[in-house]
Amino acid sequence: MNWTSVLLLALSTLAVSIYVDEPLLYDTFPPDFMWATATSAYQIEGGWDADGKGLSIYDVWMNDSNHVTDGTSGKVACNSYYFYEKDIEALRSLGVSYYRFSISWARVLPDGIGRINQPGIDYYKRLIAALKAANIQPMVTLYHWDLPQALELMGGWLNPSIADWFEEYARLCYTEFGNDVKYWITINEPWVIAYQGYGSGNTAPGTYGPGTFTYQAGHHIILAHAKAYRAYETQFKPTQQGKVGITVNINWYDPKDDQLENIEAAERALQFLGGWIANPIYGSGDYPDVMKQKVGDKSAQQGFNQSRLPEFTAEQKILVRGSADFFGLNYYTSYLTANKIQDISIIDYGYDQDIESYSDPTCYQSSFDWLTITPFGMRKTLQWIKDRFNDPEIIITENGISDRAGNLDDVMRVYYYKHNINSMLKAIKDGVRVTGYAAWSLMDNFEWGNGFTQKFGLFSIDFTTSDLNRTTKASARYYAKLVNDNGFMADQPCNNSPI
Ligand SMILES: *[C@@H]1O[C@H](CO)[C@@H](O)[C@H](O)[C@H]1NC(C)=O
Ligand SMILES: *[C@@H]1O[C@H](CO)[C@@H](O)[C@H](O)[C@H]1NC(C)=O
Ligand SMILES: *[C@@H]1O[C@H](CO)[C@@H](O)[C@H](O)[C@H]1NC(C)=O
Repeated sequence: MNWTSVLLLALSTLAVSIYVDEPLLYDTFPPDFMWATATSAYQIEGGWDADGKGLSIYDVWMNDSNHVTDGTSGKVACNSYYFYEKDIEALRSLGVSYYRFSISWARVLPDGIGRINQPGIDYYKRLIAALKAANIQPMVTLYHWDLPQALELMGGWLNPSIADWFEEYARLCYTEFGNDVKYWITINEPWVIAYQGYGSGNTAPGTYGPGTFTYQAGHHIILAHAKAYRAYETQFKPTQQGKVGITVNINWYDPKDDQLENIEAAERALQFLGGWIANPIYGSGDYPDVMKQKVGDKSAQQGFNQSRLPEFTAEQKILVRGSADFFGLNYYTSYLTANKIQDISIIDYGYDQDIESYSDPTCYQSSFDWLTITPFGMRKTLQWIKDRFNDPEIIITENGISDRAGNLDDVMRVYYYKHNINSMLKAIKDGVRVTGYAAWSLMDNFEWGNGFTQKFGLFSIDFTTSDLNRTTKASARYYAKLVNDNGFMADQPCNNSPI
């Protein structure tokens, strides 16, 4: 996770209290439900220049200590490149059946395309073999933000050729690992890549173009995803029989009251955040109408000769539409939303939406401004995806909460998981097709611009020691119990966990 509060124009005077601690539903998940935890390469691996790995944009960006609050970097992180067996031991103790991790593109293709780095391939083969030996199935993200620097020097996600570069990389991964990997996530959180990487520019590669490059990067991300999907569908799926999807980050937006303009504003916020990526892939093959209209109208008023939102050709719509076997959802939190016509002189994806949104101050607050505990939003977001995008299979690929204390008796995290997972269970009973859940994150790790100060882990790590042991937190015990029970047991207090 990595969010800024760019879109949160905090207005505490508007707040209305909506949070209620809903009664838990005591029931079980489907028998084959996939329980998992999630991590990403740059946040855990370390080994930033080991064995022929190429540079990624995060190796470069985080090399500038001004970009990280505690002046650290992911050069070592959890050192999983060497200590992956410690991760597998932690996973085993949780009893999860899946582990979601990402492949570092520059570790296997140091220049992004062309030359293959065999030691990088071998690392992921060792990891996958060790997982399978522990009866844990890999769920692999191809791209969790760490673009090879060599490709950034050619324009990165702003160069339309990236769709072909990404397809080549995806094919390599399917070829090398596809016999053992049945769940592939092409790209994690396009919103962060497009808006923060190429819009506000406050994360790698730090390119500024909030109302222009944002949409161009988003467009190329969708096309890259679709090409990687079609490559799998035509050449690998018949023999490998796996599934390919993309992970979209969606927070829930409730209207701040029942005025029509605010109800419409909340839907608009959801369409700009989730529909932007999901509607082309899971819906009509094109951007949401409300986005085309807002960005088109504003672009015209601002003197652009065409909309700042790119258009798909007829051929691209066919490529993109239906290019997923499941919907990966990262859900963390919810906001209250109001209609607000924004200043037309500001050219920015955030301002294009004509909304303002803010956290409900009555909800529990994490150590991040943007992240309050709003379990009800999980159920509502899942229902919204079902209704808007043709009832897809959904896998929750991230859900979790940060603190700064890093304490082992992490009651707030237990509360977060208990109520969010229960809200997901209610959605399943409502008829939403959720088949898996990955807790973010397996262990405390390098939280991007927040370094090691923000901790999301089920396991704690003392980053001042060189052996970086993974230590069980109370939330890990709670999660292990839930996984073991495959649901919520009314007659057993959740205190006698298997670990
Ligand atoms: C990191 O910064 C140092 C000092 O400016 C520089 O010499 C080095 O090349 C940089 N490394 C990367 C990976 O950008
Ligand atoms: C719009 O302007 C850009 C340069 O700002 C130019 O490259 C493009 O061809 C123009 N498009 C049309 C349709 O006139
Ligand atoms: C890390 O774990 C190993 C194996 O259990 C143990 O020998 C070592 O003392 C631990 N290190 C620390 C700093 O606790």
